[in-house]
Parts: sequence; structure tokens; C-alpha cells
Amino acid sequence: MSSRRILLINGPNLNLLGTREPGHYGTVTLASIEASVHDRAASFSPPIEVVAYQSNHEGAIIDFLHSEGRDAAGIIMNPGAFTHYSYAIRDAVSAIGTPVIEVHISNVHAREEFRHHSVIAPVAAGQIVGLGAHGYLLALDYLTRELH
Ligand code: DQA
Repeated sequence: MSSRRILLINGPNLNLLGTREPGHYGTVTLASIEASVHDRAASFSPPIEVVAYQSNHEGAIIDFLHSEGRDAAGIIMNPGAFTHYSYAIRDAVSAIGTPVIEVHISNVHAREEFRHHSVIAPVAAGQIVGLGAHGYLLALDYLTRELH
């Protein structure tokens, strides 16, 4: 892997974490999730740089993957509802070739049928589902271990 930079990408509606459907997503805010990933990454020796990005727009996420993805060592991504139907984000992940860990806060398999399928998963390195905000830290640990 070329760098010690990891991207943390969150898709649509995840900016509302903290107040959005706490029964599914808890009460932790996106700012708090980003801070905990930054803090853990900074505690590694040598430290990992984390670049966090959130967008409600499919094309903006694709542009970010194009501009930052190739130079990153890994990507932690919760694509939100785009998970279930965005072939364009899937193609961007496939095109850049950087390992992506797909994270879902809720257990999508215990929810509506349309959430059971991910079009991103076949091109992701792995998936962490249903472990709450802790899933982001587990993804960071995995990607960091792969750096060595
Ligand atoms: C989610 C699950 C998706 O189905 C949903 O559309 C989201 C959040 C999760 O983190 O559990 O926006 O990705």
C-alpha cells in the first residue's frame, strides 16, 4: 500500500446520526464517530492519517473516490442507501482498486428486504454489519493491520 492515509466516507443521511432513527443507529453523532476514528488512527505507531468525508450526493462521493481513492491505503465506507442500488459507486470502487471496507451501523439483514442486498459488497474487501459505530473502528484496525 502506498500511503498511511485512510479515507472515511459516509453517504446520504449519515450526517443526521445522533437524531436519526436512534432505534436503528443509536445516538452517536457523525462528528463523534469521525473523532473516534481520528483519535484511534493517531494513536498507532507510526500514526495513520484519516480523511473524513460525508455527502448526500452520489456523484460527489464518486468524485471524492476518484480524486482521493487511488492514493489512499484503504477506505472505510458506509454508503448508506446507495449500498443497495448504486452501480456507479460500485464501479468507482472497482476502478480505483483500493481496498474498501463497507460498514453498516445497523444489522441490515434484520431489516427490510431491500437492505439485505449490497451492490458494493462484491467489490469490497469486506463488510462489517450491525455492530453500531464500533464497526468503523474495527474497519480501521483491519486496514491498519494490512499496512504492515
Ligand atoms: C446503513 C443501512 C442502510 O440501509 C441505510 O440506508 C443507511 C444506513 C447503516 O449504517 O446501517 O443509511 O448504511
